[in-house]
Amino acid sequence: METPLNVAVLVGSLRRASYTRKVVMALAGLAPPTLACHIVEIGDLPLYTEDLDSTPPAAWTRFRDEIRRADAVLIATPEYNRSVPGCLKNAIDVGSRPDYPSAWDGLPAAVVSVSPYKLGGFGANHHVRQSLVFLNMPVMQQPEAYIGDVATMFDAHDRISSPESRAFLERLIGSFADWATLTRRASAVP
Ligand code: FNR
Repeated sequence: METPLNVAVLVGSLRRASYTRKVVMALAGLAPPTLACHIVEIGDLPLYTEDLDSTPPAAWTRFRDEIRRADAVLIATPEYNRSVPGCLKNAIDVGSRPDYPSAWDGLPAAVVSVSPYKLGGFGANHHVRQSLVFLNMPVMQQPEAYIGDVATMFDAHDRISSPESRAFLERLIGSFADWATLTRRASAVP
């Protein structure tokens, strides 16, 4: 069997009991063997400033290296005030500098937004997509993933509570495997 694609997973919530992280764990569990998903942590990244480009904090270097090594990135995020939580935007910005092309360049991506409410984080989802356009990342278009009512998605043991939800997550990660295989970048960004 071929080596599975290395999928860097970003979680746009730092909350201990994050629903977004639960969705990510469910997706990783349903992923086909062609994907190896692992969370790249973003909570320790100092806020980006160009002043530190010449002496980057160790956490920035660790993060950029992990993104450079990835074959694809899955971004899952809650919505804060109809937009992207600051921790996730900071991670996107840290990965985008100082090199050009950046660590993100050409990396296949999918965006999943998560909310306890009905709109499923649509605003956050599309604000993330806006950044990925500039970063030259091929983003999976379908299926779109605006996961609403997430509080009902898991039982007390964090198992997916309905066959419909499970089927959707399975279709989502299966489509992403196809997308990442089709659009993976030719080689790691140097
Ligand atoms: C929220 N929440 C929220 N939800 C939403 O659907 N749209 C929104 O614009 C906002 N705005 C918002 C701002 C801030 C500062 C907070 C803390 C929360 C609610 C949010 O969806 C909820 O707290 C989720 O549970 C957060 O995701 P995690 O941490 O469970 O992954």
